[in-house]
Amino acid sequence: MSGTKELEARVRAHLAEIERTGLRRVMRPPSGVDLSSNDYLGLASHPLIKERMAEAVRQLGVGSTGSRLLRGDRECFEAVETRFARFKGTERALYFSSGFLANLAVLTTFPEQGDVVYSDELNHASLIDGVRLSRATRQVYPHATVPAAQGQFLVTESLFSMDGDRAPLGELANVGANLIVDEAHAVGLYGARGSGLVEETGIDPFLSINTAGKALGVAGAFVCGPAWAIEYMVQRARTFIFSTAPPPAVAAALEASLDVIAAEPERRARLRELARYLRAKLGMPESDSPILPIMVGDNDRAVRLAEVLQHDGFDVRAIRPPTVPVGTSRLRVSLNVNLSEAILDRFVACLERAKCAVSS
Ligand SMILES: Cc1ncc(COP(=O)(O)O)c(C=O)c1O
Repeated sequence: MSGTKELEARVRAHLAEIERTGLRRVMRPPSGVDLSSNDYLGLASHPLIKERMAEAVRQLGVGSTGSRLLRGDRECFEAVETRFARFKGTERALYFSSGFLANLAVLTTFPEQGDVVYSDELNHASLIDGVRLSRATRQVYPHATVPAAQGQFLVTESLFSMDGDRAPLGELANVGANLIVDEAHAVGLYGARGSGLVEETGIDPFLSINTAGKALGVAGAFVCGPAWAIEYMVQRARTFIFSTAPPPAVAAALEASLDVIAAEPERRARLRELARYLRAKLGMPESDSPILPIMVGDNDRAVRLAEVLQHDGFDVRAIRPPTVPVGTSRLRVSLNVNLSEAILDRFVACLERAKCAVSS
């Protein structure tokens, strides 16, 4: 590598390869019926949450002006962390400005050189990158199996983001490993309190990471666990220490979101109903997971199918490598409570037509 001209040529060659292999991604704002967001409970536009966040902006301003360990801390952050820890049944919680940063923090803080981190082969990119950044060794195990990881770290999603299936959490908890559970797609949806699959399964992992930008409808993520572990993160987690704290109003929105989750359990019940309904219509195995992968295989075909459905008014997105393994491109349909059986019936009919229109 020498000058910028050479760099441009190299980058253009990579871009051409991305185009040639059907992997070029484009940004496209929402349009049509939402079948692709992670706003499972419809909380991103809930009137109470919007109002409480707007009020907090008026009172507290917009930016936090510094990292939590400098001038960016606010009482509202600690209050919502204390509440979230109670929600998850742990001693303490720490709030990060995104789930990606929370996962990097966990995996670069606890595993050390000489440790082994057992990681499900379908874990999210943030978990993969976290282990890569740590000095530990990564041991990838087959999806949703139970590795012999006694005395080591074991990291898994609880509800997998692109397949919508569950990790065998009960068995993983018995391995005798330091279990780290990413509840990104389960928090807000499962368990009597709605705190996730950890609650529903009744296990007590070392740590859980709970993304707040999906079912909770807001942004960021809480790492939950024992007080000593959270205290160590405050001292050591670089993505916490060296990053500006989120806007304080986000804490007010999160409080409101937790209020709604407690007060309106019917939202999660309805989501489950819709999930079972669409799965039955599509001939998929029975499950209450709101994430439904419609497998296609070929990259271009997945994109063309998504385009036909988008044209019919459904916001469905194609998911391709490296988000999913090569040869498993798919439509990732995700449900939310604002949908209805009638809309889903219409979607199923359009999907059948799209499959015929887009030959393999
Ligand atoms: C399983 C999983 N973990 C972590 C993340 C990252 O969370 P965030 O979007 O808040 O960065 C996501 C989503 O993008 C995810 O699906």
